[in-house]
Amino acid sequence: MSTTLDPQDTCVLVTGGAGFIGSHTVVELLQGGYRVVVVDDLSNSSEVALERVKQIVGEDAAENLTFYQANVLDREAMERIFTEHRIDRVIHFAGFKAVGESVKKPIEYYHNNIENTLVLVDVMRNHGCKSIIFSSSSTVYGDPDSLPLTEESPKKACTNPYGWTKWMIEQILTDLHTADPEWDVVILRYFNPIGAHESGLIGEDPKGIPNNLVPYVAQVAVGKLAAVQVFGDDYPTPDGTGVRDYIHVVDLARGHVAALNWMNGREGVEIFNLGTGKGTSVLEVIRAFSKACGKDLPYVIKPRRGGDIAENFGDASKAEREMGWKAQYNIDDMCRDSWNWQSHNPDGFRS
Ligand code: WQD
Repeated sequence: MSTTLDPQDTCVLVTGGAGFIGSHTVVELLQGGYRVVVVDDLSNSSEVALERVKQIVGEDAAENLTFYQANVLDREAMERIFTEHRIDRVIHFAGFKAVGESVKKPIEYYHNNIENTLVLVDVMRNHGCKSIIFSSSSTVYGDPDSLPLTEESPKKACTNPYGWTKWMIEQILTDLHTADPEWDVVILRYFNPIGAHESGLIGEDPKGIPNNLVPYVAQVAVGKLAAVQVFGDDYPTPDGTGVRDYIHVVDLARGHVAALNWMNGREGVEIFNLGTGKGTSVLEVIRAFSKACGKDLPYVIKPRRGGDIAENFGDASKAEREMGWKAQYNIDDMCRDSWNWQSHNPDGFRS
């Protein structure tokens, strides 16, 4: 059972805290009065993001942030962190997350994502910390039979190793609680995180050519890429293009603070969808981003991308009912903030 603690008495370890969702969550935690320890090997993120986080929250709150550059697979490093800090809660983001790459590199994905979780929870157990929030994904629902997706919707076969790692880690954490009911596990199933902090100081900074739609659109908007590739316009959707539930990364980050408050003093395993409940098509995203950046963005229709599903969007009413959390931002807000970040940081954190 997690002990009931006030934010200022709670130390939260955020694995992958220099990443896109991680850095936005660290902002909300620091602004909520939490003490935060970040562990990140910077393999797919930048320490500049954490400098920008400090800039956003200000000197006083930044005093509550400690950073360790390490890989969660490094048991010695993890033991050191838990020895140097009394970690009360863990938010586990660290993991490889590119769907297409995972199909080509299953060994790397299963080793990194699964093994780093096993090392993490073993070290947590050794130090008496049994409260974890896991960064899962709507991808565990596979190709849905019906929409919207609720937490009771069946977990189906995933279409890629990345999705399977999320699926399996959910099972690992569930089995942990079965073996030891003191474990307090919250599984957050994200839909499609996009957007950026309103300051434009942090945002999504993928390496190489973006796999995901919105960072790709953003790079077309700043002139780094020529045209958006629309992967299929023959899906059974209103305009024929893929439909997803896009959620503002700040809404998502605030969902983690809501989960920390909710799990306080609890034990068990609880799943929450974090989405907006609204589906948006590829063409609608392009239109919204064109409006945000003030120019018509060029696009070309391409064949469907292997592994893609036509449509998914979530029912997040359980998060509202139980945690009092509800997404506040719409697709125009998301594209406005994504454009603000990209236009001020055309080369991401490298600029
Ligand atoms: C969205 C839509 C594409 C790129 C995956 C993971 C999810 C999360 C986000 C990590 C689809 C279309 C895309 C492009 C396009 N993972 N598209 N042109 O595949 O829904 O979700 O990434 O955080 O867990 O499953 O996201 O942004 O790749 O695709 O037309 O250049 O945009 O076909 O319909 P996806 P996405």
